[in-house]
Amino acid sequence: MCGIIGYAGHRPAVPVVVEGLRRLEYRGYDSAGVAFGWQGRLCVVRAKGKLAALEEKLAQEPMATATCAMGHTRWATHGIPAERNAHPHLSNDGTLALVHNGIIENYQEIRARLSAIGYSFHSETDTEVLVNLISYHRRGGQDILSAFATALREAHGAYAVCLMETASPEVIYAARMAAPLILGVGTGEHFVASDIPAFLPYTRQVIFLEDGELIRATPNSYKILRLEDLQPVTRQEQTIQWDIQAAQKGGYRHFMIKEIFEQPRVISDGLTGRIAPGKRAILLPELDGLPIPERLHIVACGTSYHSGLWGRHLLEHWAGVPVQVEIASEFRYRERLLLGKNDMVLVISQSGETADTLAALRRARQQGTTVLGLCNVVGSSIAREASAIIYTQAGPEISVASTKAMCSQMLMLSMMALYWAGRSARMNASACQKQIALLDDLPAMLEEALPSMHERARQLSRIYAQAASFFYLGRGHCFALALEGALKLKELSYIHAEGYSAGEMKHGPIALIDPDFPTFALALDDDLFPKVKSNIVEVQARQGKVIALTNPHVDLHVDDRWDIPSLPAPLSAFTALPALQLFSYEMADYLGKDVDQPRNLAKSVTVE
Ligand code: F6R
Repeated sequence: MCGIIGYAGHRPAVPVVVEGLRRLEYRGYDSAGVAFGWQGRLCVVRAKGKLAALEEKLAQEPMATATCAMGHTRWATHGIPAERNAHPHLSNDGTLALVHNGIIENYQEIRARLSAIGYSFHSETDTEVLVNLISYHRRGGQDILSAFATALREAHGAYAVCLMETASPEVIYAARMAAPLILGVGTGEHFVASDIPAFLPYTRQVIFLEDGELIRATPNSYKILRLEDLQPVTRQEQTIQWDIQAAQKGGYRHFMIKEIFEQPRVISDGLTGRIAPGKRAILLPELDGLPIPERLHIVACGTSYHSGLWGRHLLEHWAGVPVQVEIASEFRYRERLLLGKNDMVLVISQSGETADTLAALRRARQQGTTVLGLCNVVGSSIAREASAIIYTQAGPEISVASTKAMCSQMLMLSMMALYWAGRSARMNASACQKQIALLDDLPAMLEEALPSMHERARQLSRIYAQAASFFYLGRGHCFALALEGALKLKELSYIHAEGYSAGEMKHGPIALIDPDFPTFALALDDDLFPKVKSNIVEVQARQGKVIALTNPHVDLHVDDRWDIPSLPAPLSAFTALPALQLFSYEMADYLGKDVDQPRNLAKSVTVE
């Protein structure tokens, strides 16, 4: 978690860094800070709370001429959100400043060692320990690069760090180990950052650093060195095609609503180049060289896990591949991973940096299992470490709550199922063609449906905003959507919500139903509808209020019906998903919650 940025160039550096931090705020936002050189010393300004608090403080600072600076936006791991724990942290002698994303696992040991020789600490952070360890080696006579590398070699854990020193105020130093760090190469300026949008207005030329690499960057030069022995490394620059507009709100009130409305485009982008002429097969060259797995283990967290649960139905039903879906934090610590010789692990992650998912990937790879990654962020750790990677191509997702990323994951899972179904001849070309045509029609259908779905979500939010708890019920592929609907509602509006398999209600949870405990039922027109209808009636018999997401002409009587365009299952999920997202968005917005940055959360969960 946390976002870091460093800048060495020719512009006033602090505004560049603060602007970059704004685009990194999705990574954490409980405090922020910057450091810059000023009259031979390092000036550090930090503030608890969101970036606006830091900006207020900076308005008083004499920073206009600094052309090198670094900044940090924090999601607390060690130490409560407070100014003293905010980054940058200074070394005791004030000559070094450090910002850090990650966790130094042995920091207490190092802290004890440094305390014993007179170092003092003013925060509870591991970062302050690390900057003093670098200072200790510097004072022992090592040059700055060696001191930096020696300290990092002694630190165990995950980090992306950026360092400044009073002796070289025009230089930024940075390094990574198991946390993202990207170098932006401009003209007369260089950037290092946790994510590309931080410097996208200035350059599209990037280099993705590898674990165990260190950078020294000045306005006009950079070098990449191996942490191990400080030998230079040559890396290719890559050009990023993202549109800067894509990383902005584009006229919407929040990133979340913009990202919900982007879903038709996400689907059409995802389909581009993937449909064979005549629409009789799906093209996924990423899978061409891999055998169809005997068993697929899908591993992910949160919303990505829900995509996996949904995808299981298609992979089993269409492609005939048996699928297990598991939460990454459980999978990674299973005593024995029973992975067969011809099994495959599929890790799903929007960010490609989720610590548990990455650890699960590594564990599976250690056992010699092929790990396929389904990721949105190009060059992310999961993308680089997987045996093969399929990008979901949803574009940058800024809102903390995942929306369009799930849609893109579901699309890719549908295409994988169709691809394997076609390859194994389990589905004939005309059956494939039918599903491909449905996928192909989705963008236009959704584009047309979204405005009225948004309006219905708004109406319903006014009726239900006072509820303290919600059930979300679904069956079959809609069970995954019920879980996702409940997750979205609780994370955005802080209303307690539970996603349940509709058939499980009578085994206990139905005891909770009363007139003040509403149920959001996924009652789409599919084979399981009669069963869902019975479960709804059971809720109504206990005076429970019901909103039903259903299709026109479906025979169902509930308190609040929400008709969405009909589509055969399981692809009907592509119309149900935005309805769930819009309902949560409207509930949270109506209740005055911070939609894009809900409390206690961060976009990219790079710690366990
Ligand atoms: C919920 C949400 C999270 C993420 C989860 C996994 O709206 O965004 O539950 O889905 O933290 O993140 P990724 O997909 O980046 O691995």
